[in-house]
Amino acid sequence: MTTSPDLRPEAANNETHERSTSGVGPWPGERADWPSEPYYDPELLEHGDTRNVIDRYRYWRTESIKEDLDQQRHTFHVAIENWQHDMNIGSIVRSANAFGADTVHIVGRRRWNKRGAMVTDRYQHVEHREDIDALIEWAQAEGVPIIAIDNVPGCVPMETFDWPERCVMLFGQEGPGLTDEAVAAAEAVVEITQYGSTRSINASAAAAVSMYSWVQQHSPLRPR
Ligand SMILES: C[S@@+](CC[C@H](N)C(=O)[O-])C[C@H]1O[C@@H](n2cnc3c(N)ncnc32)[C@H](O)[C@@H]1O
Repeated sequence: MTTSPDLRPEAANNETHERSTSGVGPWPGERADWPSEPYYDPELLEHGDTRNVIDRYRYWRTESIKEDLDQQRHTFHVAIENWQHDMNIGSIVRSANAFGADTVHIVGRRRWNKRGAMVTDRYQHVEHREDIDALIEWAQAEGVPIIAIDNVPGCVPMETFDWPERCVMLFGQEGPGLTDEAVAAAEAVVEITQYGSTRSINASAAAAVSMYSWVQQHSPLRPR
């Protein structure tokens, strides 16, 4: 019989539904009793799993986690302009993973700032688009509307916006924001209403809010 570590939320000694990100040790018990399903990684069973993954994926091979996520990804994509190695991009990839985005498109420079991604890019589809024209070409081929996210003239408030079920939400960078080309490529421009004195929130915060907003309208997985 297989014995497994106690991964029940109530077994965790903290207030979240997941155990601490410090991870779990080697699988307990005799090796002969370890689980043999192909998605388990023998190295992790032997040495423990300190990755920042939810309890369900403890000891799973990285590629198996990605394949499992592929079964239930949402139908929105995320794109971010990358002309200045903006450090928000890593955080956006991390949020895209958390909210089940289909793919993140890096528009502009191929190399992107991975700080903040916390290696979530291993579980997330991330593709490169040379420029806005390349993103437009991809979006047209896929039949996916581009929704620009920024607080620029002509934008509509996200709170009243009906998200298309399939779409790519496009974000700008710290400082310049979205380029004119990006705004021109969009079917709609959507802003997150602010109430303070600052002109904008940072791009990764805007991305998390936007993904959350889409999920509220469309996710079949959201609690009701
Ligand atoms: C820090 S903002 C810079 C540009 C901003 N328009 C300004 O005037 O300061 C960087 C990016 O974050 C996103 N963003 C920031 N605040 C936003 C808001 N209130 N509504 C929608 N997007 C926002 C946009 O994608 C924007 O291009």
